[in-house]
Amino acid sequence: MVLLGKKILLGITGGIAAYKACELLRVLQKRLVQVRVVMTDEATKFVGPTTFAALSNFPVYTKNAETALQHIDYAQWADIYIIAPCSATSLARLISGTGEEPVSLCFLAMPGEKWVVPAMNSVMYNSPAVQKNLQTLRSWGVKVVEPEFGYLACGMEGQGKFPEPEDIADEIEFGEPSAKKTLLITIGRTQEAIDPVRYISNRSSGKTGEAIAKEFLRNGWRVFAVCGPMEAKLPKQCEKIEVKDAESMNKAVLKMQAKANVIVHCAAVADYRPKRAASQKIKNSRAVQKLELEETSNILTNTIKNKKKGQKIVSFALETENAWENAKNKFKNGIDVLIVNTPASGNGGFGDDFVEYGILTKNQSIELAFGSKEGLASRLFECTK
Ligand SMILES: Cc1cc2nc3c(=O)[nH]c(=O)nc-3n(C[C@H](O)[C@H](O)[C@H](O)COP(=O)(O)O)c2cc1C
Repeated sequence: MVLLGKKILLGITGGIAAYKACELLRVLQKRLVQVRVVMTDEATKFVGPTTFAALSNFPVYTKNAETALQHIDYAQWADIYIIAPCSATSLARLISGTGEEPVSLCFLAMPGEKWVVPAMNSVMYNSPAVQKNLQTLRSWGVKVVEPEFGYLACGMEGQGKFPEPEDIADEIEFGEPSAKKTLLITIGRTQEAIDPVRYISNRSSGKTGEAIAKEFLRNGWRVFAVCGPMEAKLPKQCEKIEVKDAESMNKAVLKMQAKANVIVHCAAVADYRPKRAASQKIKNSRAVQKLELEETSNILTNTIKNKKKGQKIVSFALETENAWENAKNKFKNGIDVLIVNTPASGNGGFGDDFVEYGILTKNQSIELAFGSKEGLASRLFECTK
């Protein structure tokens, strides 16, 4: 789901994880979501409404309502309602429909999408009552973010832990593919071994690939990511296949190719590798003067050879000079979209949030300009639809 610009009502109930709702609110705001807060009276004993009013920059709806119809006003305002943490007591109230306090009253009055994040002691969580209530909510179309396993505030270990706020936001933004379409993307860099401790590699951070994977996920696609080493972090909803060198990336991509509607070659794959990797660390005394190199498999060419009917292939061209002219020569048969990027920012866009890029397809060309990697991802998504 596209969260950008959405309005979220955050319901907070009386659980020890109420303090983590502060962080969840911030995470949602960072994803450019507007947040308002509603709290049960018990929740206000764990964290004061002043904190949430300050963070959301909006009055918090508590039992001391600001207006007579604040429940209708807040519920109608929101696109999504997330109750996090949701206590066992509040869960039962959502089912009973008594609407006797603000959080459950908003739930009754809310026409839009609803989520609950139960968090409690693991015995409570696994009790028939809680499980039955969650099952009922699911059958009503309410989405449930499962609590995690781990050490709980009560000192026990088990399922019931409030998930990391980033993971909650990821599940809402990227969870459950809706379309039956699949993206196969390579991300990061490769490492070609010289000996057990040395390798040839490059500076790719994986950030562009991360932005692209997220864009397809939030549009309901299933995403397989063949990842080399990288700094970028992919959401759990990405199905990751981790590889080290060009050869293993090539194998993984060819194995997955048949499943993909779109293949994006975003990884910075080494063109050459040492002809022989030494089995032991090369000693100083035998310092390497020359490395004998050989070409790695060309993953792009291999996928073009195996291209399925209707499959789209996206390639990247990083150019340091005459970018547009050189890139045009790379726009060979079998490629549907070519992203041209330049090292105009001084480090090739590696690790930056912005990059200079242009897009070439058979029917259109978008000239080189600076933009965010998210912007690049969303334009690329449009080109591959
Ligand atoms: C220190 C403390 C921690 C609690 N933590 C939880 C919790 O994590 N999950 C839960 O379901 N209930 C927890 N409870 C119990 C709820 O606070 C209690 O059921 C309360 O009635 C919930 O009210 P509410 O759902 O209206 O906010 C806790 C109680 C106390 C005193």
